[in-house]
Amino acid sequence: MRFLRCILLALVCFAILCRLHPHCATHAATVPANPPVTWSRQIAPIVYQNCTTCHHPGGSGPFSLLTYPEAYRRGPQMAEVTQSRFMPPWLPAPGYGDFLGTRRLSDAQVALIRSWVESGMPEGDASAAPAAPHYDATWQLGKPDLILTIEHPYTLTASGSDVFRNFVLPYPLAATHYIHAMEILPSAPQVVHHANVLIDRTASFRRSHPTDWQLGVPGMELELDAGNTFDPDSHFLFWKPDTPVLEEPEGMPWRLDAGNDLILNMHLKPSGKPETISAQIGLYFTADPPAKHPMLLQLEDDRDLDIPAGDRNFVVQDELKLPVDVDVFGIYPHAHYLGKELDGWAILPNGRKQWLIRIPNWDIDRQSVYRYRTPVFLPRGTVLHMHYLYDNSADNIHNPNSPPIRVCAGNRSVDEMAHLWLQVLPVNVPKGSPDPRLQLEQAWMEHRVEKNPGDLIALYNLASARAGLGHYAEAAADYRKILAGHPGDARTLNSLGAALENAGDAPGAEEAFKQAIASGADTCDPQFNLAQLELKNSKFAQAEEQFRDLLRQCKGDAETHNGLAIALEGEGDSAPAQAEFERALELDSSNFTALYHLGEMAIESGQPERAVDLLEKAIAQHPDDVDARERLAMGYAQSGRQDDALTQLRAAVRIKPGDANLHALLSQVLAGTGQLEQAIEEQNQALHLQPDDADGWNNLGVLEARTGNKTAAREDFQHALQLAPGHAQARANLARLAQP
Ligand code: HEC
Repeated sequence: MRFLRCILLALVCFAILCRLHPHCATHAATVPANPPVTWSRQIAPIVYQNCTTCHHPGGSGPFSLLTYPEAYRRGPQMAEVTQSRFMPPWLPAPGYGDFLGTRRLSDAQVALIRSWVESGMPEGDASAAPAAPHYDATWQLGKPDLILTIEHPYTLTASGSDVFRNFVLPYPLAATHYIHAMEILPSAPQVVHHANVLIDRTASFRRSHPTDWQLGVPGMELELDAGNTFDPDSHFLFWKPDTPVLEEPEGMPWRLDAGNDLILNMHLKPSGKPETISAQIGLYFTADPPAKHPMLLQLEDDRDLDIPAGDRNFVVQDELKLPVDVDVFGIYPHAHYLGKELDGWAILPNGRKQWLIRIPNWDIDRQSVYRYRTPVFLPRGTVLHMHYLYDNSADNIHNPNSPPIRVCAGNRSVDEMAHLWLQVLPVNVPKGSPDPRLQLEQAWMEHRVEKNPGDLIALYNLASARAGLGHYAEAAADYRKILAGHPGDARTLNSLGAALENAGDAPGAEEAFKQAIASGADTCDPQFNLAQLELKNSKFAQAEEQFRDLLRQCKGDAETHNGLAIALEGEGDSAPAQAEFERALELDSSNFTALYHLGEMAIESGQPERAVDLLEKAIAQHPDDVDARERLAMGYAQSGRQDDALTQLRAAVRIKPGDANLHALLSQVLAGTGQLEQAIEEQNQALHLQPDDADGWNNLGVLEARTGNKTAAREDFQHALQLAPGHAQARANLARLAQP
């Protein structure tokens, strides 16, 4: 034992030996004797850097280490827990992933604490000590832009097992906001072990707990309904009392829309006295929408979790091949009390092994999200691996069961889990390709279905990802598989209808929508889709009836009013159609469809100023819509703003250079401003794209004639007549050319 100590204290031993051995004396003359390690010079800086974020009054650590007397009292214990690496708490092994905020003392720092303790923990020159850091329970980034508060505080009993509680915090604003930072301030941080914030896009949790959601709902993990649009979870909104405020990387804020709920999932630990727990969530907005769209991916194999009592080496693994290049931003390993060794790595296509994380001594109480200092690039074809070892023996000090019992997967903390979450950002995405996250979703869900063909949520998500990628027939086949087991499932029938419609099977789609409506559950979506299908097939009267029914039975949103308007327009009732578009615009002032149609109506009724106003707003919504730009150009031209009209049309031609009509229209406006050479050029472009257009040849002839090029004009008129012998204007123009 003594020998061991001496090894550990090599520094100190050496110094002593030097002084004892005479032949060291010459060195001693040039090398100053090591001054003793003191609190003020060496230890306080280490403690303030690495310990006091938790060890301050009110912090998550069980005592304060802010002052010399406090540290003095704990000195030997500090030496012990830093030597054993129990403190500061940090699970990942060094060298297996370079994480932000790594909490690990260097060997030299550990040795310094040890020698300080060995030499009696001297304070040293108090005036040389750094100022103690200041901690308070206020917002770290200043006042948040929005603070959400738990409405009904929860009372945690003095003792008993851990409590998992979900608090619903409705997002109260009407406008969408982007959040670049979030902080949680619980009223009793000492009992809040950690918290997750989930975004419920469809308020599904609240709907599934209609009577008690205000009070908070127990449960460790929850399943939320993501709705009909692909909007995957993209951020780790994980929080622990001692972690700094969560700031998202540049260009990667997350989003809250009207009607969203935040769900604060808190893990509470009874502390010996009852505590009333409330919490505030502070949100910091940024004006810029996300430029990068990450996604959370999960490796897991909960189904394999069936750990016999006493088994100390139970392995669970999973792997997933990446279909796209990604940067990995963060990682979140998760197991419960029996987890022992949690490893994650990637095998690159060239065979190289890239470690993502290695946790040699798992401890659920110290779980955390880890963010890489620099994102880890993984090319497509890389295979992600999860390899977890569980210890269900009595030797596992975290084992909640004594004696050990068989443990399976489950939602309670005494059950087990095997999850490895990664936050990935697809990179090197070819321009014009569909959302690369759909490819990730497809690969992930395919893998889930492979592992467990009965996983209907995965099958549904897989089908939806396929539909999103344009593989409609495959998607329809998957939806049918679900329906084979759950005939009449309204949502699946509705999705099947949409896939069939996109696959070009209108009758099949109609039947699926009708079956979904007949199922009686959730009829609004399929009815809306059926009405849209009828519009597409020009069954305007039927569509009108459906839309009117929707307005009575379901919500009267802008798109329903638009649908009714288009049906009415199709039936020739333009005044009531206009009124419906106006109603849609009242409900949603930036609704493209309403702006576009009302703009078009304004042009037709000779109100170019109003048309310009509406269509400018429409283009602000969809800058790439050439039809809207074309109509806006007409509005400008009608109001005498020829230059603006030209600018619009040139922009439209840039977006869609292969559109003959745009070139022809541009030619007309150019001709109107006397720019004949350019007008001829554009008309030639149009005819190059659409050589059989007799009107086009006639127009080209007129332009040639105006520049005095009679030969060219004659050929153009003749060409028009060859294509359309009855073309009266071309014949008249040709005749006029012949006159002197
Ligand atoms: C992230 C928060 C955090 C940091 C940072 C931290 N501690 Fe702790 N410390 C705790 C908590 C919490 C406990 C209570 C035991 C537990 O839950 O792990 C604790 C317990 C201790 C104990 C008592 C150990 C025991 O066996 O009871 C000592 C001593 C200690 N810490 C010293 C330190 C020192 C020294 C540092 C810095 C080198 C440090 N801690 C950094 C949170 C922290």
